[in-house]
Amino acid sequence: MKRTASAIALVLLATVAHAQAGDRVEELLSAMTLEEKLGQLTQYVGGQPELDAALKKGLVGSILNLGGAASTNEMQRQALAGSRLKIPLLVANDVIHGYRTIFPIPLAIAATFDPALAELAARTAAREARASGIHWTFAPMVDIARDPRWGRIAEGAGEDPFLGAAMAAAYVRGFQGRKLSDPDAVMACAKHFAAYGAAEGGRDYSAADMSERVLREVYLPPFRAAVQANVATLMSAFNTVNGVPATANRYLLDDVLRKEWKFRGFVVSDYAAVAELVNHRIAATPHEAAIAALTAGVDMDMQDLSYGTLAEAVKKGTLQESAVDTAVRRVLRAKIDAGLFENPFTDETRAASVILSREHREAARRVAQRSFVLLKNENVLPLKKNEGTIAVIGSLAESKEDILGPWSSEGKAEEATPILDALRAAAKGAKIVYARGTGIADAKEDEFAAAVALAKDADVILAVLGESREMSGEAASRSSLELPGRQQQLLEALVATGKPVALLLLSGRPLTIAWAAEHVPAIVQAWFPGTEGAHALADVLFGDANFSGKLPVTIPRTTGQVPIYHAELPSGRPANVENRWTNKYADLPLGPLYAFGHGLSYTKFEYSGLKLSAPAMTAAGTLTASVSVRNTGARAGEEIVQLYMSDLVASVSRPVRELKGFHRIALAAGETKRVDFPITREQLEFWGEQGWVVEPGTFRVRVGPSSASGLEVTFEVR
Ligand code: GLC
Repeated sequence: MKRTASAIALVLLATVAHAQAGDRVEELLSAMTLEEKLGQLTQYVGGQPELDAALKKGLVGSILNLGGAASTNEMQRQALAGSRLKIPLLVANDVIHGYRTIFPIPLAIAATFDPALAELAARTAAREARASGIHWTFAPMVDIARDPRWGRIAEGAGEDPFLGAAMAAAYVRGFQGRKLSDPDAVMACAKHFAAYGAAEGGRDYSAADMSERVLREVYLPPFRAAVQANVATLMSAFNTVNGVPATANRYLLDDVLRKEWKFRGFVVSDYAAVAELVNHRIAATPHEAAIAALTAGVDMDMQDLSYGTLAEAVKKGTLQESAVDTAVRRVLRAKIDAGLFENPFTDETRAASVILSREHREAARRVAQRSFVLLKNENVLPLKKNEGTIAVIGSLAESKEDILGPWSSEGKAEEATPILDALRAAAKGAKIVYARGTGIADAKEDEFAAAVALAKDADVILAVLGESREMSGEAASRSSLELPGRQQQLLEALVATGKPVALLLLSGRPLTIAWAAEHVPAIVQAWFPGTEGAHALADVLFGDANFSGKLPVTIPRTTGQVPIYHAELPSGRPANVENRWTNKYADLPLGPLYAFGHGLSYTKFEYSGLKLSAPAMTAAGTLTASVSVRNTGARAGEEIVQLYMSDLVASVSRPVRELKGFHRIALAAGETKRVDFPITREQLEFWGEQGWVVEPGTFRVRVGPSSASGLEVTFEVR
């Protein structure tokens, strides 16, 4: 009885608070001038020339690229002093995978297949960011990407919408916490709405063009999951979607986002994306662009100040002031929810106790350990820490900058550890020697020869190769996925010494390492593992921790094989190596180099006993698929058990497999666990002519260690 009473009280309190906030918004709105309203819809960049004058007139809604409690408090003081109605600033920053304690890049966190770790990373980042005066992060980036030439594949959860949706919701929970007004919460921002990852040719900022079905089934699910997780804001994308720029796309911003998904927050444009509508040729002037963006549903304009020109449109009657009011209500509501009217300033003593705390560093190391993907291992790993000589070759082994990866917010290289130092700290007797061999893009003959000579005298070689951190992230599309510079030649020279070689890849994307896959006995995809990443690498390389990550993206054999991903549609002529007239490249073996979901361990896992709770279900019903997984090796490990669904006959062609479930489980040596997967409508539906449908017929379930293998069983949907 008591519990019910308290629940009712909570609901009443929330209802009252909601109503009070609404009243407050209306009070403010009715007192605001048109210029003040447009000021709230304008986001400046810290240091922008027009900023000081705008602050003095109370015409700044938000500032981005600020950080540090003292400087944000000073900016807040100026904003409140200039604002006639004392409306506080929203301070924003790109806190993508950490603020000062930098976590692995989001693509690496996706490789953990563990939303709880994504939430932990976001929670940690939010605590450090809010203590530093930041109220709003431009994260999570939830763009699905199936073309690794696109550098921003590094910032998201990879190629799969089911994994991407789970990660999106987890990041939102982590960043926003219990209440946006809490001292360790920041408003999240799901970006870039929408289909930015479908840029043609993997060229950043290119057009995205696709069927409604692909838009709905592949690119929108992570945004929908973020909205269902109550994300406070979205960011509109730079690209066009089926010919209409995302930043003026009423179908996406209003029909889908607000009318269908009931999104209540606000939308900010990407950087200067409003003015860029002129380049997209849907507006002749920034003024026309501003009208198009605002009326489509972009509430706040980032950096290009186009919204400042809208006063004229309202006065001339080409824009209703009610459209401005709708956007201002959303922004004011967010500021109230973030508690900024009551507490516009940050406690400047808080940061010292949270930033780079032991707890945060340990969290970053824990996430990094689980993000590494062991692609191949023929008895080279783990390395012996007590004996012998290990030759570490490659400039990335001594880099503190690159290990942080792109979009590393306020992360500082001096607070990270180079891989070489971490290996030396972890070794207990083994001798660790180092040579650069070659840079990422530069190469000097003498360094090359010296590295090979050093390697010849070692017992084992660790080649640390890949990309610099600038080679992925924004404006970092690459036409080739090969190892940059002369790293491939260096690798071949190291293998030619005849010593065992382990290749450690640092990159923000899959690289086409077909030669290495054939000639190098051990390969680890390490991504960019962050501030504690080097120590985490030493943990797994010396075997103090086990590998458990799985690929969130397919690794192609060559750049020419792109796009290649696990959830492809079937062909009328399925690939057949014996038959020329089938779906394949004449100059390549079939299939990718490494499949989505692939990843090895120091132990082995055996799957058995796949069963369904019933042979059939209705679209409204449920089924449970269960499987046994046994650790048949000699050491403990964690396995990511994956469930793929195939709709074998439907009114439209359906993907050959779709990820519809995953569980990370820990197993001691010899231990067996039963893993259950619920099958509901969610696992069966596809986008039909008018919306989501489930069609009766036979479905196939496959449960296994990757998208390429597993136990199978079929069932009927009636
Ligand atoms: C950039 C990015 C976006 C980022 C914004 C602010 O151009 O596209 O992801 O949040 O500008 O830095």
